[in-house]
Amino acid sequence: MAIKWKNRLQPRKNNWIALSLITVCIQLLIGLSKESKAQPSIIPYPAKITIGKTLLSLPAEIPVYYNGNSFNATYLSNELKKRYQSRCVIKEIAPNTADLKSLSKQFAIILYKSKDFKVAASNLIIQKEAYDIRTTKKGIFIISKEDAGLFYGIQTLLQLISSESGSGDPRYPVALINDYPNYVWRGMHLDCSRHFFTKDSILKYIDMLARYKMNVFHWHLTDDQGWRIEIKKYPLLTQIGSKRKETIIDKNFNPYLGDHQPYEGYYTQEEIKEVVAYAKNRNVTIVPEIEMPGHALAALAAYPQFSCTGGPFDVLTKWGVSEDVFCPKEATFVFIKDVLTEVMNLFPGTFIHIGGDEVPKTRWKSCANCQQLIKDKHLKDEHELQSYFITRIDSFLTANGRNTIGWDEILEGGLAPHAAVMSWRGTEGGIAAARQKHQVVMCPGSHCYFDHYQGNRKTEPLAIGGYTTVQKVYSYEPTPDSLKDYEKEYVLGAQGNVWTEYIPDFKQVSYMAMPRLAALSEVLWTPKVARKYSLFQDRLVRQLPDLTKMGITYSKALYDINSQLTAAKNHKGIELTLTAPFANGEIYYTLNDSEPTLQSLKYISSLIICSKQTVKAAYFDNGKKIGNTWAQSFYPSLSTGKKVTLSNQPSSSYNQGGSLTLVDGIVGQRPWYGKEWLGWSGKDCNVTIDLDSVQALSAVFVSTLKDEASWIYLPSAITVLVSDDNIKYTQ
Ligand code: ACM
Ligand code: ZN
Repeated sequence: MAIKWKNRLQPRKNNWIALSLITVCIQLLIGLSKESKAQPSIIPYPAKITIGKTLLSLPAEIPVYYNGNSFNATYLSNELKKRYQSRCVIKEIAPNTADLKSLSKQFAIILYKSKDFKVAASNLIIQKEAYDIRTTKKGIFIISKEDAGLFYGIQTLLQLISSESGSGDPRYPVALINDYPNYVWRGMHLDCSRHFFTKDSILKYIDMLARYKMNVFHWHLTDDQGWRIEIKKYPLLTQIGSKRKETIIDKNFNPYLGDHQPYEGYYTQEEIKEVVAYAKNRNVTIVPEIEMPGHALAALAAYPQFSCTGGPFDVLTKWGVSEDVFCPKEATFVFIKDVLTEVMNLFPGTFIHIGGDEVPKTRWKSCANCQQLIKDKHLKDEHELQSYFITRIDSFLTANGRNTIGWDEILEGGLAPHAAVMSWRGTEGGIAAARQKHQVVMCPGSHCYFDHYQGNRKTEPLAIGGYTTVQKVYSYEPTPDSLKDYEKEYVLGAQGNVWTEYIPDFKQVSYMAMPRLAALSEVLWTPKVARKYSLFQDRLVRQLPDLTKMGITYSKALYDINSQLTAAKNHKGIELTLTAPFANGEIYYTLNDSEPTLQSLKYISSLIICSKQTVKAAYFDNGKKIGNTWAQSFYPSLSTGKKVTLSNQPSSSYNQGGSLTLVDGIVGQRPWYGKEWLGWSGKDCNVTIDLDSVQALSAVFVSTLKDEASWIYLPSAITVLVSDDNIKYTQ
C-alpha cells in the first residue's frame, strides 16, 4: 500500500479565469502590486499572491453561494458573524449552473467546487488541497477541486480580511491567489497521556491546526502514565489504566516528590467520533497512536498477564520509561489486535501509529517465553524480537487496509515491510528509511520538539529542556539534501511534537505550540522561494492580536534578544554579540546589574568580556521596551575563550553552542537548557584546552549535569591531565 507522494509542484495553469464570474483587469492588478506594501499577514503565505492597493468594504449582508459541502459555507458565515457581525445568507448553487455570473446581481462570496480545477501535481492530496481566490468589487470567488481546498481558501480569506481591517470594519483588497501545499503531511502531535486534555480542548487544538492549514493530528493516546482511549472489549484499560495515584512535582526525581493528587481522564468512543468528524470537516486527519511494545505500563497495570513478569503494576506517576513492556506472546497479540480493531473502527485515516520508541530490553532478556521465541524464530537478539513484534502488527494493519507508522527505533532489527518511519532522534532514521523506500515523516528533536524551551530559560515557564526558537523552526527543511531525488519522494513532510510532562493544562499546550506551529506550517506549505524569516515575523506579529482575541495563548519569546558568544581575538576573553529581534529598534544595556533604560549604554557592536560581569540588555522600539530583559553573568577564568579541541563531537541534540560552551565563562544552570551544556552519546570525549602559555593552576572546575528526563546522565569518570608541551601529559 505504499503511496509515493510528489512534493514538488510544477507551475500550473490558472484555469478558473475561464469561469469568468467577474472580469477583472489582471494587468491592472499586477501593476498595482508593484507598489511596495507590507505583505498581507497570511500564514502560511500563499504560493502565489498578487494584491492590489484598492481596499473594498465587505457589505453587512453577504450572500454565500456554495456547491460543495454546506459545512464550508456555514463555517465561513459563522466566522464572519463572530468577527464582524456580518449577516450571511447561504444558498446552494443548483447543479449544472453554467453561468455563475447570473447567481447574484450584488456582491457575493462563491465557494465553487469544480472537478475541472487542475493543479499540475501528480499527488492527489495536493490536488485536493489547492485552491484559487479572486476578489473584486463584485465579489469573492474561491475555487477548488475539493472541499479541503475550499476550506483552505476560506482560511486565507479570513486572514486576508483581518490583515486589512485591523479592529475596524471588514475590508479586503483586490487580489488574486493561487495556492497549494509544499508537503502532504503537515502535522501536529499532542501527548494526552502525561497530561489529559478534555475533548473541548482537543477541538480547540484542531482549530489551531486548521487555521494554519495543518492536516494531520497525531493523537498520542497511550503511554506509561495513562491510557486515554475507551476500548469496549477491555474495560480495565480505562477503569485502571486511565488513573494514576499522583504526579511527580516538577523535576523532583531524586528524591521523588509527588503531589498526592489522584489524576485521571480518558476519551469515550462517542467523544472520539465527535472529534474525528470535527477534524474531517476541517481537513485534519487523525493519526491515533497506541504505544507498543514499550510505553505500555498503563495497559499492563490493567492487564498484567501481557507482561513478561505478570506484574502487578501501577500506572507510572513520574516521567521516564518503564522497564516493563508487552511480552510478545500469542495472548498479547490477540489483545493488541482486538484493541487495534476498535481503534480502526474509530479512526478512518490510513495511518495507525504503533509507537515503537524507547523499548528497554531488560525484561525480554530474562523472560523464558521471550528467549524461547528468539530461538524458535531464529532471531539474533532482542532487537530482532522487537522487529518481529512490529512486523506482526504491521501485517495485521496492512491486511486491514491500513498503513503502519512508528518512531525511528522500528528500524532497529529490521524495518517491517510496510511501515512508515517518524524520525525523531535526528534525521538519520528518516534518511535510512527513505533509502529503504519507506515513507518518512520528519520530526527531529532539534527543530520539531515543541516541548523544548522556545526562549530564555529564565523568562519562559519550566520545560523539559532544549532550546528551539521560532526562528529555528522556520529554518527547518524537512527533505535532507543527502537523499537522491527519487528518495526525496518518500519524505511526506514533518510535524511538531508536543510532549506534555511539563505541560499541565491546555493553555500551556497552546503557549508551547504557538507561534512555533505557525512557523512550521509555513515550512510545510509555502514554497521555499516565498519563505523569508523577517517577512514571516512581520506577518506573525500582526496576527498576534487575533490570537489573543481567539483565546489562543502564545509565547512572546520571539521578542527576545538573541545572543551569540565567540572567542575574542587571540583567545583573550569572550565576545558577546546581541541581535535585536526586529530591525526597527535599538538595544540598551547595563553592566551594573540595573535594569536597562533609554539612558543606559546603547548597544552598537559586540562586547568583549574578560572579567566577572553581569550584562543586562533590553530591546526598545519607539522608546518603548519590548520583550523581556536579557541577562547573563560571566565568570571568566584562565580557560575562558581559549582554544578547545574535541576528540568527538557532541550529540546533535545536545550541542547548541559548540565546543566554546565549555570555556565561555558561563556557569551552566539547571534545568537543562540547550545552550549552556554539551552532551555526548556513545563515545568518550577528550577535551583539550590550549591555555596559550604555561600557567600555574590551582584547581580545575568542571560542571556536570544530570537530567534523566532529558536522557542526560553524569559522566562515569572525569580525568584531568596537564601538559607543558601538548605531548607529555600527567594526571
Ligand atoms: C519520543 O520522543 N520518545 C518519540
Ligand atoms: Zn517476555
